[in-house]
Amino acid sequence: MREIRVNLTEKSYPIYIEEGLISNIGAEIKNIYKNKKVAIITDKNVDNFYGEKVKASLENNGFLVLKVVLEPGEKSKSIETLLRVYDELLDFEITRGDLIIALGGGVIGDLTGFAAATLLRGVPFIQIPTSLLAQIDSSIGGKVAVDLPKGKNLVGSFYHPEAVFIDPKMLNTLDERFFYDGMAEVIKYGCIKDKELFNNLLAYENKEELMQNMDYIIYTCCSIKKEIVEIDEKDTGDRMLLNFGHTIGHAIEKYFNYEAYTHGEAVALGMYAITKKSEEMSITKKGSSELIKEILKKYNLQYEIQLKDKEKILKTIALDKKSKGNHISLVLIKDIGESYLHKLPKEMVTDFI
Ligand code: GLY
Repeated sequence: MREIRVNLTEKSYPIYIEEGLISNIGAEIKNIYKNKKVAIITDKNVDNFYGEKVKASLENNGFLVLKVVLEPGEKSKSIETLLRVYDELLDFEITRGDLIIALGGGVIGDLTGFAAATLLRGVPFIQIPTSLLAQIDSSIGGKVAVDLPKGKNLVGSFYHPEAVFIDPKMLNTLDERFFYDGMAEVIKYGCIKDKELFNNLLAYENKEELMQNMDYIIYTCCSIKKEIVEIDEKDTGDRMLLNFGHTIGHAIEKYFNYEAYTHGEAVALGMYAITKKSEEMSITKKGSSELIKEILKKYNLQYEIQLKDKEKILKTIALDKKSKGNHISLVLIKDIGESYLHKLPKEMVTDFI
C-alpha cells in the first residue's frame, strides 16, 4: 500500500492508495476509528457498484451503518440536498464522535465534506473518491462546498478528512468520458510540476499500459497536491498553480452553461490556449503548446474550439470569485513541468485569449 501524509498546521492525515483496497475497507476504518456509527453518503451510480459492498464490509467489522443515496450529478451539490443530508444524519442521531464517509466523485466529496464541516460544528469524515478527478484532486486539500443558484462552490469551507482511501481499481467502472475528464487534470500536474510524469503519459502505448501504471500516476499527482497544499493551504499563493488552464477553462464551462464541456475538457482547452499565447509572447519554451496538443489528443481531449463571443468570456473571467481587485493571477508555464503565477491587470487578459 502506498501512503502519503498531508501535514498541515492544525491537522495531519494519511492518503492510502492500493488496488482492491475497497474490499477490506471495514477493517481499514476500524484501524483508525473506534466508535460505532458510520454514515455513508453516495450517489445512485456509485451505489450500484460499491454501496452494498462498503456497507457490508463496515457491518462485518461491527459498525452500525446508515447509507444515504443521492441523485448523481452537479444538481445534487445544492442547499436542498444538503438539508436532506443534515436531516438523515440527525435522524440517525449522529454525534461529533461518529464518522461520515464520502463515497463518490467530486460532487459527493464536496457536498459530504461541507455537511461534515457544518453539522454540529464539525463531524469527522473520510473520503473514498471513486472518480479519477476526485482521486487525484478534489478529495485532497480540504476544499468543501455546495453551489448556489448564483454560481458554483459559493458556500464552502476548508475542512480536511481524517483519511483518504483510494482504490485505483474503482476506475474500471468509471464512464469513459469521465475517465478522460480526470486525465486532463493528470496532464495538468505534469505541465505544472512534473516533466517526467508528462513524458511517461506521452510514452504509454495504450490504455492497458496506462492502467497498469495508475497507482504510480495517482501517487504522483497526490504527492504534488500534498506539497502545494502544505505550503499554501488556504489558496492565497502557490495553490493557485493548480489552476493552470482553469481561468479560460472555467469561463468556457460557464459560457456553455456547464452543458457542452466537462470540467476536465474545458481545462484541456484552457491549458492549450494559454500556452499557445504565452509561447507566442516568448515567455514559454517553444514547442510546449505542441506537446500539450499531442498529449491532449492522445487522451481523447479536444485542444481547440472556435470562440465567437470573446467579450462574454472575458466578462466571465472578470467576475470569477478568485480574481481579486483589478488584477488577475494567470498560471503560465516556462517549460513543461515548470509553472509560475503571472499577475496582470484584468484588461490585459485579452492578450492571452
Ligand atoms: N482543485 C484545486 C485546489 O484544490 O486548490
